[in-house]
Amino acid sequence: MRFTLSLVLLLLFLCQCSSNDSNLIPQSCKEASNSSPNVSYDICVSTLEANISKKNPPTKLKDLVGISIQITKTNGTNIIANILKLLNNQTFSQHTKACLKDCSRIYKGSISTLNDAIVAFKSKDFGTANIKLSAALDSSVTCEDQFKLNKGEVSPLTKENKVYFQLNAISLAFVHKFNH
Ligand SMILES: *[C@@H]1O[C@H](CO)[C@@H](O)[C@H](O)[C@H]1NC(C)=O
Ligand SMILES: *[C@@H]1O[C@H](CO)[C@@H](O)[C@H](O)[C@H]1NC(C)=O
Ligand SMILES: *[C@@H]1O[C@H](CO)[C@@H](O)[C@H](O)[C@H]1NC(C)=O
Ligand SMILES: *[C@@H]1O[C@H](CO)[C@@H](O)[C@H](O)[C@H]1NC(C)=O
Ligand SMILES: *[C@@H]1O[C@H](CO)[C@@H](O)[C@H](O)[C@H]1NC(C)=O
Repeated sequence: MRFTLSLVLLLLFLCQCSSNDSNLIPQSCKEASNSSPNVSYDICVSTLEANISKKNPPTKLKDLVGISIQITKTNGTNIIANILKLLNNQTFSQHTKACLKDCSRIYKGSISTLNDAIVAFKSKDFGTANIKLSAALDSSVTCEDQFKLNKGEVSPLTKENKVYFQLNAISLAFVHKFNH
């Protein structure tokens, strides 16, 4: 009885250890934040940890690329929905509304750019994946800049743009490792 219990515990222990490739995320995020000033280690780890399947955790950097682009796409979709909500709100100036519409268009384009990045990465065309991800990263900057053209205009999307920038920077830093 006691022997069986010990055996079960031992097996559980071994199982835990062998399934613990869970260094992948911290390790990859560490390298990403070292290689790019645009990547925050903490955001990288927490975002990925929150979005991986615990049952079927990723084992390779390649998997993390797909996951991080997917997270970015989901986030972009959320941002577009957010913009729509803001536009239905009558409290903005004409200029802010026009900027919000531009941003909505920019983000829609950026999601299709991310789809292109996924296709390129899967076909091992890392150069193209890199270009597409850079373009998606720039989208957030372009959106934010719209509001600055008018003095005193406050962007209601600053936080979203920062997050989107961050998420793309993570994918970009991961893909860089394949590009060398
Ligand atoms: C698995 O790895 C993580 C991160 O490296 C560590 O914190 C944890 O203690 C490890 N678990 C086991 C059972 O070794
Ligand atoms: C960091 O972001 C800037 C845009 O603000 C971009 O021009 C630059 O290429 C990025 N660097 C890396 C390493 O991704
Ligand atoms: C990432 O995790 C958050 C919080 O757990 C969740 O709301 C979101 O849907 C996840 N995104 C993806 C692409 O799985
Ligand atoms: C994604 O987008 C939503 C809405 O813009 C935002 O609140 C959230 O913080 C973003 N981040 C992630 C990791 O999904
Ligand atoms: C519209 O904006 C105001 C002020 O920013 C906010 O209090 C209100 O909740 C918003 N309404 C909707 C429907 O989002």
